Amino acid sequence: MSIKFNVNGFPYEVQAADYAPDTTINAFLREHLHLTATKYMCLEGGCGSCVCVIRRRHPVTQEVQSRAANSCLTLLNTCDDAEIMTDEGLGNQLSGYHPIQKRLAQLNGTQCGYCSPGFVMNMYGLLEQHRGQVSMSQVEDAFGGNICRCTGYRPILDAMKSFAVDSNIEVPAECVDIEDSFELLCPRTGQSCRGSCSRPPLRDQGGSHWYWPKSLTELFGALSQVANGELYMLVAGNTAHGVYRRPRDIRHFIDVNMVPELRQYSIETDHLLLGGNVTLTDAMQVFLLAAKRPGFEYCAQLWQHFNLIANVPVRNNGTLAGNISIKKQHFEFPSDVFITFEALDVHVLVYDNPSTQRVMNLLSYLSDTTSKLVLGGFILKAYPKDRFLFRSYKILPRAQNVHAYVNAGFLIEWQDIQRRIVHSARICFGNIRPEYIHDDQLEQLLPGRDLYDPATVAQIFQQLPASLQPEERPPEASPEYRQLLACSLLYKFLLATAPKERVRERFRTGGLLLERPLSSGSQSFETIKKNYPVTQPVQKLEGLIQCSGEAMYMNDLLTTSNAVHCAFVTAKRVGATIEQIDPSAALQCKGVVAFYSAKDIPGSNNFVLMDQFSPEVDEIFAGGRVKYFDQPLGVIAALTHDTAVYAATLVVVTYARDQRKIYTTMNQVLAEKQTDRIVSKSKDPVEPLKMPPLAPGDVLGRGILELESQYHFTMEPQTTIVVPLDNILQVYCATQWMDCTQGAIAHMLGVTVNSIQLQVRRVGGAYGAKVTRCNLVACATALVASKLRRPARFVQTIESMMETLGKRWACRSDYEFRARANGSIIMLSNNYYEDAGCNLNENVVDFLTLPILRNVYNLTDSNYRTQGSAIRTDAPSSTWCRAPGSAEGIAMTETALEHIAFTCQLDPADVRLVNLQPGNKMVQLLPKFLASTEYRKRRDQINLFNSQNRWRKRGLGLALMSFPLNTTVAFNYPVTVAIYHEDGSVVISHGGIEIGQGVNTKAAQVAAFVLGVPLDHVRVEASNTVSGANSMLTANSMTSEMIGLAVRKACDTLNKRLAPLKERLGPRATWVQVLQAAFLQSVFLVATESYRLGDIPNYNIFGLSLTELELDILTGNHLIRRVDILEDAGDSLSPHIDVGQVEGAFVMGLGYYLTEHLVYDRQTGQILTNRTWNYHPPGAKDIPIDFRIELLQKSPNPVGFMRSKATGEPALCLAVGALFAMQHAIQSARSDAGLPREWVRLGAPTTPETVVLNSGSQVEAFALQ
Ligand SMILES: Cc1cc2nc3c(=O)[nH]c(=O)nc-3n(C[C@H](O)[C@H](O)[C@H](O)COP(=O)(O)OP(=O)(O)OC[C@H]3O[C@@H](n4cnc5c(N)ncnc54)[C@H](O)[C@@H]3O)c2cc1C
Ligand code: FES
Ligand code: FES
Repeated sequence: MSIKFNVNGFPYEVQAADYAPDTTINAFLREHLHLTATKYMCLEGGCGSCVCVIRRRHPVTQEVQSRAANSCLTLLNTCDDAEIMTDEGLGNQLSGYHPIQKRLAQLNGTQCGYCSPGFVMNMYGLLEQHRGQVSMSQVEDAFGGNICRCTGYRPILDAMKSFAVDSNIEVPAECVDIEDSFELLCPRTGQSCRGSCSRPPLRDQGGSHWYWPKSLTELFGALSQVANGELYMLVAGNTAHGVYRRPRDIRHFIDVNMVPELRQYSIETDHLLLGGNVTLTDAMQVFLLAAKRPGFEYCAQLWQHFNLIANVPVRNNGTLAGNISIKKQHFEFPSDVFITFEALDVHVLVYDNPSTQRVMNLLSYLSDTTSKLVLGGFILKAYPKDRFLFRSYKILPRAQNVHAYVNAGFLIEWQDIQRRIVHSARICFGNIRPEYIHDDQLEQLLPGRDLYDPATVAQIFQQLPASLQPEERPPEASPEYRQLLACSLLYKFLLATAPKERVRERFRTGGLLLERPLSSGSQSFETIKKNYPVTQPVQKLEGLIQCSGEAMYMNDLLTTSNAVHCAFVTAKRVGATIEQIDPSAALQCKGVVAFYSAKDIPGSNNFVLMDQFSPEVDEIFAGGRVKYFDQPLGVIAALTHDTAVYAATLVVVTYARDQRKIYTTMNQVLAEKQTDRIVSKSKDPVEPLKMPPLAPGDVLGRGILELESQYHFTMEPQTTIVVPLDNILQVYCATQWMDCTQGAIAHMLGVTVNSIQLQVRRVGGAYGAKVTRCNLVACATALVASKLRRPARFVQTIESMMETLGKRWACRSDYEFRARANGSIIMLSNNYYEDAGCNLNENVVDFLTLPILRNVYNLTDSNYRTQGSAIRTDAPSSTWCRAPGSAEGIAMTETALEHIAFTCQLDPADVRLVNLQPGNKMVQLLPKFLASTEYRKRRDQINLFNSQNRWRKRGLGLALMSFPLNTTVAFNYPVTVAIYHEDGSVVISHGGIEIGQGVNTKAAQVAAFVLGVPLDHVRVEASNTVSGANSMLTANSMTSEMIGLAVRKACDTLNKRLAPLKERLGPRATWVQVLQAAFLQSVFLVATESYRLGDIPNYNIFGLSLTELELDILTGNHLIRRVDILEDAGDSLSPHIDVGQVEGAFVMGLGYYLTEHLVYDRQTGQILTNRTWNYHPPGAKDIPIDFRIELLQKSPNPVGFMRSKATGEPALCLAVGALFAMQHAIQSARSDAGLPREWVRLGAPTTPETVVLNSGSQVEAFALQ
């Protein structure tokens, strides 16, 4: 039995029995066709890196539908007769690039480029689906499922919106090449596909069966093959696997996509019928049509709600029945389909066999235990709008693509619509506790009552909190928040639907949900023509190949078919000693090749180099006492990735009894005064400041700032491939520091360093995660490859990365201040603690935090005291994460300044102005920035807005930064520049790593400038440990400058060698003529130079940000209305790249402060947020609506390379302004709530939960008047 389909127009036929039954098209494209443009990371529909486009014929309409799909979830066996389009098929260097690919590259929409193919294909799918007719807002809405950790999205959205019919984005003219109709050719006959081929069932070698029914009768025929007790699955989109993993032992897979009865719909006068397996996207199309018919106007609201379910590719393939089936199998699942349908009393059509249908309500269906039921359809009744009122709500932790904190649906039937007397009510809430769906009490209370009568409203909110008793279910939000939120949603409903005159004017905006207009941005910078291409805003060197998916990442490298795949086995008892490891069950698993643990390591069991950054051993595999939950204790090698991951769970570990108490948080250590875990540089207590007596008007205060950790969330997973060659190991590792990876592997194997050779073409996102943490995977892979003498591949899953690897150092600051009435600081003290995890490696406390703490302020030894301590906890060793230590340092001092302003009741800008260090550059910058951003005027406007709105509040937050760039660890950055005499083209290889920060582009710009050749003559080749031997880490924002400087040195050397020839040949000699002459005279056309310590001294980078946001006090959701950033980049080497770094760093900071919440089991130390399902970096609609970036003009850096400054990290520090804007807004809400004026502790992250729980809202006070 074969499966036939087209990929990029080429027909393929595969013997389905040769593949595992759950092979995804991602695995097939990458591993079998070696089409690697389609990437993967999360494997659960949550990141978008795997998006491709699938065209198939609809079994009912016979129309060819073209849809973006997550290839990581789509099963190969559901693609029979389909046409699959991948990014390399869309455009490439041979056939020419597609306009989407070109536009994304031209508008600077790529940095590391790992996400780019997914964005391109999602856009292509959108355009095809709508025949090229999309609006800007449709485009902006469509990328909720595509995460980009680098760019901050603004340039991506600009590029994509430029294809919209209403686009106002300026771009080079190009035509949009989207066909009007698609012909789907049958891969069997080559003729137009009619979608009518029928296929016999298939049994694969593992004993699983696949069926492709074309009718209900065939479907039940297939079900009849399922024996009692055997597991089966009706496969529609297979997207439920992205939420709850499919059981491994499914025996029967029945593809229901071609069963017409399940895919049809009809709109009748009194009801709407939707087939069970209508996709969510198709259902939304039907809602739009139905909303125009009397009785179905409520479908417009359903469309709005469904638009918040998952993301476009998931909705394109996920179906209604699939969603409800998740709810049936996991009753706690906060299904949005269920909550809206249950509120609307939707009934389901259920088949027991092809000829017996039953109609039942949803709850009966969920509790029906009859086996082999097929959910045939959904019946939605007509609800004439003069008799019914329907609204539904979904509140999320970020703008899109997250399941609900709480969702709700309310349906009111009027007895008397004029008097607003209720006949009946359906009041439904989701994600409270599994058995609570309807609020029965309210449903009984409301009939016969005026819904908006003050007494009714009062009674509703007296009663509701008692019946809403959310269960505690981490990592879900707290019960307290979910209870308040559910009440708020009903209150919102009443505010929104009550006649205007019955709602107090100040309350009215409380009825609205935050509406986000289209976002836009502006970027201003200066260029210096005489230095071109340096300072020129050029396109990124690799931009096009990144957008077409041709850019190669580690996992795109081919290895021979005997390669093995690896997965970690981890320890689950922190503090216990490993007594025995029994891998026998795993080794018996088909396809498992080997298991190795600490005892198999021939050299040192340590994945870091013992140096100034890492004084302690970081074990590759736990050897004795387990240091943290999920510490790797061994590695499984297997023939496939899935087998390795599965087999790793079969290894049995026995632990010796160990009663030692574990400490999983800093606060626990501090509360229990575990002094041996608190490590300060200075052993002596800090001498207190001598205080003058308090003068009249002086203020005192103290506070605590807590900043939790942050996961790096690189889109390219931690990846290493090791290939034994001759008698060395060739290592392809996604590392930011080749020298360290090379050394760690050599020490681990006990071999000489020269027998480990690395090559790194590029890294798909790093942010510190791949400085040393990548070595854990690198060492494990090298061990496997060296033991087996065969290629080994290790791509960590997102769960494994989040579980096993350290993240940003969490931080706590206990500060105290005394200030004059004008805010001038008399004394500021700051005791800060940073969470090291299980060892003190990569300590940021004194190295990175301390030097930044005084920021731009006049904090001297006579008014400032600080002491920092690292705290050892039983957690993975914390590591550097973009702006490590410095983001925390700026946040601590800026928070203290805000707090002082709050206490003095002064404007925060004024308090900053009086405290600036005399002579600091900020003395000039701040007043100008306040003027250019219209700070004073906007603050007044915001205060006026706040006084007029009870439930909507705005805030303005200012942040200042002086970021000290520390170059004292930059020992070596070697660079080789070679010129080819044949055509004068130039190649560079350097010891830095292209991680998306644009080091290659900047290096090429410098070489082109110094050698005087066009930029397109220069290319940059992969970094390696021969020409890049001994290179320092690519981190600390500084590498581009160091490499640029070394490139200039090398080019100067070459110029010197060529100078005599140039002089001899005269000015008319061409570049190539000079080179050919040089070649014949044996001039050496290769130069190797290095950056040396001290070539660039330390300097400071200045920045300012002003963040304006709006809060919905009832839900805690926010909109970032506008952000202005002014950053001093010196003479920017490459302004598009630098603007991109500023935007991307700032947006990563927004994630840190607002959406990214790591939740742990405090007893065991286990991380509970280890997936895209529960960890939320910002998405495309979380960025500032109006994002204005200015690189400071006429501000050359006298000590910088070509007068430039670094840009990679600093702007992340400026995102702390969002917290101050929050404080501003929350204070207004608290004052309205009648709370005493007091400072609110906001830290990282400040989520909607924090906002609601700190805004003083009292359910009993919810009223309309
Ligand atoms: C990243 C992501 C985000 C998501 N976010 C949300 C969200 O915010 N809100 C929300 O509500 N949901 C969300 N979902 C869930 C999503 O809506 C479902 O995954 C999808 O609807 C399942 O449909 P499917 O066709 O892919 O089902 P499949 O995965 O194909 O099947 C799932 C189950 O349904 C059964 N089944 C399928 N068809 C039938 C039938 N006709 N009769 C009986 N049983 C059947 C199958 O046997 C199987 O057990 C999200 C999913 C992902 C991956
Ligand atoms: S890999 Fe498919 S969505 Fe992340
Ligand atoms: S460019 Fe988007 S993740 Fe790196």
